[in-house]
Amino acid sequence: MEKTFLMVKPDGVQRELIGEIVSRFEKKGFHLVGAKLMSVSKELAEQHYGEHKERPFFGELVDFITSSPVFAMVWQGENVIATARQMMGSTNPKDAAPGTIRGDFGVTVGKNIIHGSDSPESAEREIGLFFKEEELVEYTKLINNWIY
Ligand code: GTP
Ligand code: MG
Repeated sequence: MEKTFLMVKPDGVQRELIGEIVSRFEKKGFHLVGAKLMSVSKELAEQHYGEHKERPFFGELVDFITSSPVFAMVWQGENVIATARQMMGSTNPKDAAPGTIRGDFGVTVGKNIIHGSDSPESAEREIGLFFKEEELVEYTKLINNWIY
C-alpha cells in the first residue's frame, strides 16, 4: 500500500494543531504507521529541502524548520500521496481552499503548517530521511474492511 511522509511544521506544533491534523487523516480513513515529535538538525533540513537550495528563501526555510520541534508522520493508504496534498491545500495559504489544512489554519507561505511528499519518489526519500525502518509498524485495523 502507498505511503507518504507528512510533517506538522514548527508553527503547527506551536499552534497546538497536531491533534487536529492527525484527526483529519484518521477520519479520512488513512492508516498511521509511524510518528514522532522531534527536532530537525540543520543537516537534515538541508537534505530534506535540497531541491530548494538555489531558491532565495532557502536559508529562511532551514532556519524555520529547525526553530522548534516538528511532528513527523508516515501515513498509508490508497492514493495517500496525492490525497494528502489535496487535504493540505495550496502551498500559499492565501490560495488554499477553505476545508484544507492550510486554507483553514495558515496565513502566510513561510508558515504553512504542514509538509507532505509530492510524489512517490519524494515519499520514499523523505520517509528514509526521517525514519529508521524499525520505527515504522505494520498492523491490521478491522475498520479498514469498511474503507476498502
Ligand atoms: P512542502 O510540503 O512544505 O514541501 O510545500 P509544497 O510542496 O507545497 O511547496 P514547495 O515544496 O514548493 O516549497 C517548500 C516550502 O517552502 C513551502 O511549504 C513553504 O513553506 C516554503 N516556501 C515556498 N515559497 C516560499 C517563499 O516565497 N517564501 C518563503 N519564506 N517560503 C516559501
Ligand atoms: Mg514540497
